[in-house]
Amino acid sequence: RENLRRKLFDFHGVSMSHYFTNNWENVQNFQARPDDIVIATYPKAGTTWVSYILDLLYFGQTAPERQTSIPIYERVPFLETAHLADKLPTSPRLIKTHFPIQFVPKSFWEQNCRIIYVARNAKDNVVSYYHFDRMNQAQPEPGDWNSFFHRFMEGKMVFGSWYDHVNGWWKKKQTYSNLHYMFFEDLLEDTGREIDKLCSFLGLSPSVEEKEIVAGKVQFDNIKKNSMVNYSTLSVMDYNISPFMRKGKVGDWRNHFTVAQNEEFDEDYKKKMKDHTLQFRTEI
Ligand code: A3P
Repeated sequence: RENLRRKLFDFHGVSMSHYFTNNWENVQNFQARPDDIVIATYPKAGTTWVSYILDLLYFGQTAPERQTSIPIYERVPFLETAHLADKLPTSPRLIKTHFPIQFVPKSFWEQNCRIIYVARNAKDNVVSYYHFDRMNQAQPEPGDWNSFFHRFMEGKMVFGSWYDHVNGWWKKKQTYSNLHYMFFEDLLEDTGREIDKLCSFLGLSPSVEEKEIVAGKVQFDNIKKNSMVNYSTLSVMDYNISPFMRKGKVGDWRNHFTVAQNEEFDEDYKKKMKDHTLQFRTEI
């Protein structure tokens, strides 16, 4: 069968694959609207989870048929492929991106759009990414765990360095007030609290019942079996290797990192993460 896997290449100083750069001109010229809402993440940090929460908050009541007829990656499409995002019929438009901060088209800043950044601790993030690259036949060959682990530390992943990504967005938050920076670990610890924060950021005021319904629907077990959210409709993803909704935990890295890898990782991490105001939890 045709090999869809792409190689990494350097794109303006960031490791990328062609799937996400083919549309560069169109993407950079993207015309944002003031009410566009962007969900920005490093891959595997909870993009789908937060996309689904937002879709439910905005359209769960007014357009319930969306939930059973349109897969989440079309309800909340990639900015990287521009054409889908541009043609979204909804208002507001919910758009996701994995771009590092410097790749975001300038129109979003000019329009002062609301942006939600979701970050996940590096250890769980690399584990999740490893299984994703194993099962997603369009991603570069992951190789074995140890080589993937080292490539992650070098930033040679699609969408580049995790360290640069989380730090670049964190820095932006200091000057751009329409950026809500949230954490995967917090969302898992208390989904209701994080939905409250999202609502207050977005200026939404759903009823208590509505919020409870949303929190219930986006629980891991429910997401995992929901074919409109779990990516089982995309043939490029091989569920025989690993499901997209794999574990949904904080701390699964302990089942992958050896003691030696953990020490090496921590030492390297300290050097790269000098900004001590950005703190992650690897356990909850
Ligand atoms: P794991 O591989 O660790 O299970 P993204 O959508 O950015 O690709 O992120 C996918 C990761 O988010 C997967 O992590 C997936 O299981 C996890 N995830 C999605 N929904 C979740 C939920 N409701 N609770 C916990 N984890 C969730």
